[in-house]
Amino acid sequence: MGMRVHIADHPLITHKLSVLRDKATPSPVFRQLTEELMTLLAYEATRNVRVVECEIETPVTTTTGVKIADPKPLVVPILRAGLGMLEGMTKLLPTAEVGFLGLVRDEQTFKPTTYAERLPDNLAGRQCFALDPMLATGGSLAAAIKYLFDRGAEEVTAVCLLGTPEGLRAIEGLVGDRDVTLVLGAVDAGLNEKGYIVPGLGDAGDRLYGTAE
Ligand code: PRP
Ligand code: URA
Repeated sequence: MGMRVHIADHPLITHKLSVLRDKATPSPVFRQLTEELMTLLAYEATRNVRVVECEIETPVTTTTGVKIADPKPLVVPILRAGLGMLEGMTKLLPTAEVGFLGLVRDEQTFKPTTYAERLPDNLAGRQCFALDPMLATGGSLAAAIKYLFDRGAEEVTAVCLLGTPEGLRAIEGLVGDRDVTLVLGAVDAGLNEKGYIVPGLGDAGDRLYGTAE
């Protein structure tokens, strides 16, 4: 299967990302835009969501429609920053189940550690959607994707607002023949010595929930 990468190319997405990048944008606006961007990216991310045919009665006749198939998709926001994307996704996919994964990146080594996990034990046959605004070195998303496949997930679609070439390579390195799709709002130039995305938007978790200056 391998990895598919979809980079959004839409003026509304680029416009909203530009406001997010602006350091003068305050947390309430940042949160609102993160959610809106997720909803726009969700349209692309759910392009291959599994559906089954069903019969429906319109006021006029009987016809065939579709509904989301079982087992239902699993949406996994990567705490903390991924939580800012959850509402934007569940708005479009209200019947999805939601699991949680808490990862924090060591700011010196950039290695992620898992501090929270609340996922179904068995993900066999599940389509999973991992949400994290930032794909920087790729360590966190790689750990999250590995976690989901180790539990038996059939396919993983990751949605990120910003990525880097380094992060994309890191994910590609672990994918092998597994079914992984990355949907990104933009791919930036690279990383600085602190592992921040350049030009980026700073620390997404702090800008959503913390005391970013
Ligand atoms: C940020 C971000 C990603 C990760 C990206 O989380 O939300 O999870 O860093 O970096 P990477 O690609 O180099 O792994 P952070 O660890 O700062 O935690 P937070 O979401 O709680 O702020
Ligand atoms: N995590 C963030 O929140 N921002 C970056 O630029 C890199 C990692």
